Amino acid sequence: MLSSSRRVTVSLPNRSYDVVIGAGILEQVGELLRQVGLNRPVAVVTDERVERIYGVKLIGALAASGFSTSLHIVSGGEPAKSFATAEAVCESLARAGVDRSSLILALGGGVIGDLAGFVASIFARGVPYVQVPTTVMAQVDSSVGGKTAINLTAGKNLVGSFHQPALVVVDTDTLSTLGARERNEGFAEIVKYGVIADPSLLHEIRSATAQPLIGIIERCVQIKADIVAADEREESGKRALLNFGHTIGHAIESAAGYGKLLHGEAISLGMRAASWLSTRYAALPIEDHQRLINLLKELSLPVVLSGEITTAAVMERVFTDKKFHRGQIRFVLTSKFGSAFVSEKITRADLESAVESLRESIM
Ligand code: NAD
Ligand code: GLY
Repeated sequence: MLSSSRRVTVSLPNRSYDVVIGAGILEQVGELLRQVGLNRPVAVVTDERVERIYGVKLIGALAASGFSTSLHIVSGGEPAKSFATAEAVCESLARAGVDRSSLILALGGGVIGDLAGFVASIFARGVPYVQVPTTVMAQVDSSVGGKTAINLTAGKNLVGSFHQPALVVVDTDTLSTLGARERNEGFAEIVKYGVIADPSLLHEIRSATAQPLIGIIERCVQIKADIVAADEREESGKRALLNFGHTIGHAIESAAGYGKLLHGEAISLGMRAASWLSTRYAALPIEDHQRLINLLKELSLPVVLSGEITTAAVMERVFTDKKFHRGQIRFVLTSKFGSAFVSEKITRADLESAVESLRESIM
């Protein structure tokens, strides 16, 4: 019998799937797989740290439910989103006899989800996969929606695919073993959902450090599920709203050197810059801009760009971003928290000024 859990459905033609959210449901993964007809050998892809904490528990639970398993471990962190690691995982899968009748299970944060999802989309020309996200970042955002990716030196996520998972299992108990820094960086994506869709999240997140996050996770997942259902492949401009703060954020993350800034930390800086541009080009009240900066600070997220990261290095990466459309950047702005829109009016000079605005310290 499954313990109480919540479900959000991502509705897509022929490949709808559920995001099941609950406390302590890691041990029920086998039962959940059976419920959706995934009675297959399971290839678990994870990183060293997550494997140490949850490997035995997950593999034991799957074995107890009658699944045969293999384990594929990579060293963690953003540098793992590389061709070299994807190749190593593919070799490991091949050695273990994984094939199209198997299933890949991504156990870990957004790095593992993006990497394992990418491998699932290319190994044996495509294998189904399941996400079991274990960070705030991955539970509220990256495990849902089917974007998979690895990085290039030229820029983040430049190689990847759209490959939807068959199921997402969110066990909120796994968040208890995160360090403070990893936990806080995930709050950046929750702030993003507050800005683009649901401003009440901007209040609730302030007390979330001391409260279970389950309700907030469910709301973020519902927002993302609705957006992905409406614009799966980021064509109409709706899914692009999820990139609020990401154009400059990704460029900063890449310019810093992968792994130096956590993803959410870079997105915090990117959101400050996007909010600054919104005061100039979308009439966002300056008080709201200040409110956003204060909230990010309160959540222990960075709001000032280190002098070690030059504006030139950031600008170089901005221009290899996928958010360009026919040579024009598609930049997400907000006029009022709770809604956002895509502007094609932001120039190179505007972006440069926005990056420079991040040098100003905040009292
Ligand atoms: P991460 O995957 O690197 O995890 C952060 C650290 O936490 C790692 O060292 C990991 O080993 C550790 N960890 C994970 N779960 C843990 C747990 N429960 N207990 C203890 N330690 C744990 O970082 P992340 O922030 O989860 O993911 C960032 C990545 O997600 C970036 O590469 C970003 O591009 C990607 N992302 C993708 C999408 C998408 O739609 N595909 C959306 C947002 C972010
Ligand atoms: N995180 C952006 C997206 O999934 O579209």
